Amino acid sequence: MLDYKQKQIIDREFSKLDRINPELKTWWELYEDRHFMANKLFPLIGDYFRDRESKNVLNIGVEWYNIADKELCLNDDIKLYGVDNQKKGTFSIPETWSGMYYRDMFDRNSLHDLPVKFDAIIDYGVLGVWWLFPFKPSKDHFRNYFNNILSSLNDGGLYFIKLDLKTGDDNFSNIGNLTDPSIIEQTKDMIYKYFTRADFYDIGYHRIGESNDTLVLERI
Ligand SMILES: C[S@@+](CC[C@H](N)C(=O)[O-])C[C@H]1O[C@@H](n2cnc3c(N)ncnc32)[C@H](O)[C@@H]1O
Repeated sequence: MLDYKQKQIIDREFSKLDRINPELKTWWELYEDRHFMANKLFPLIGDYFRDRESKNVLNIGVEWYNIADKELCLNDDIKLYGVDNQKKGTFSIPETWSGMYYRDMFDRNSLHDLPVKFDAIIDYGVLGVWWLFPFKPSKDHFRNYFNNILSSLNDGGLYFIKLDLKTGDDNFSNIGNLTDPSIIEQTKDMIYKYFTRADFYDIGYHRIGESNDTLVLERI
């Protein structure tokens, strides 16, 4: 269930979209991974950055889905940026965000020219959705994706990821239906090489139901 205060924020922010896509608010109300994000993940990110000098956070794959995220952090000082492969003009982010980049994370070097580097990257619900579509990202797409993250995350920066990989490895249970085992091996290799598990409040490794896991990693 959504906490009362967080539900009010979601109601307020998504009511601005009522004529565009009313289901988006319902999505936040229905799903347990959203409740975890709204009640725990974002407020803890807000708390973590309260006393830090640099507060740049990148949210991957946002479109209209994540318009309440900044407010859900309960910390107005966070500098939230978005990246999405949708075309500029197809959606807009709230004015309180610090920037929006229209880039494809599967492209090579798609974030290398950004004017900021990030202290945290939130990667939720992007890599796991491909089983729904005819397009299947290749091994190179995945390598590019993680290289983009590595190139834009500061040393010591946090990476919040829900992979949706089904692999039999507890750390990577879900990028389901991506049947090419070499993609999974490559993903594991890159993550284990460049990240350690972060000690982040009590959510360093959070299992949500059967198929949604959140890993909190720290860039070595
Ligand atoms: C399910 S939705 C949103 C998920 C959202 N981040 C959340 O809270 O779970 C997936 C988003 O990822 C974006 N996306 C998909 N592939 C992408 C890519 N290759 N590069 C950047 N964004 C991508 C889509 O346009 C869409 O906005």
